[in-house]
Amino acid sequence: MSDDLIASAESVRRMAYAPYSGFAVGAAIRAAGGRVHVGCNVENVAYPEGTCAEAGAIAAMIAAGDTEIAEVAVIADAPAPVPPCGGCRQKLAEFAGPEVVVTMATADGKRLASTVAELLPGRFDAGFMDRATPGAS
Ligand code: THU
Repeated sequence: MSDDLIASAESVRRMAYAPYSGFAVGAAIRAAGGRVHVGCNVENVAYPEGTCAEAGAIAAMIAAGDTEIAEVAVIADAPAPVPPCGGCRQKLAEFAGPEVVVTMATADGKRLASTVAELLPGRFDAGFMDRATPGAS
């Protein structure tokens, strides 16, 4: 169930480094083998260098040796469940199949569930590169 994953995301949200936006986000990923990996947003005084919670959770997952996402939870203290940004949708899609459920949550208990396919219709994937020849141009 997503409840434990939301709890993990909420715990790590409290570690977020977000002095510029004041908007702390936590993300938790359950990998196919069952392990949970977490991340929070890490902002930077050079604003574009900041990273999202989802990117942190993906980095932790890869560093721990997992490569397949089974489930995702994202949480923030917001009026409505916060969806992953466009870039994070593509990052998640690298490791998550189209039917993987992303549960978005608010600190006060609202929930919204979507699949990766719903969040990123028409995604770019390796199939488009079938005719590419690395190193040829
Ligand atoms: N942010 C995330 O970490 N994940 C999201 O899904 C949406 C936005 C962060 C980026 C930035 O640190 C802050 O929230 C405000 O955009």
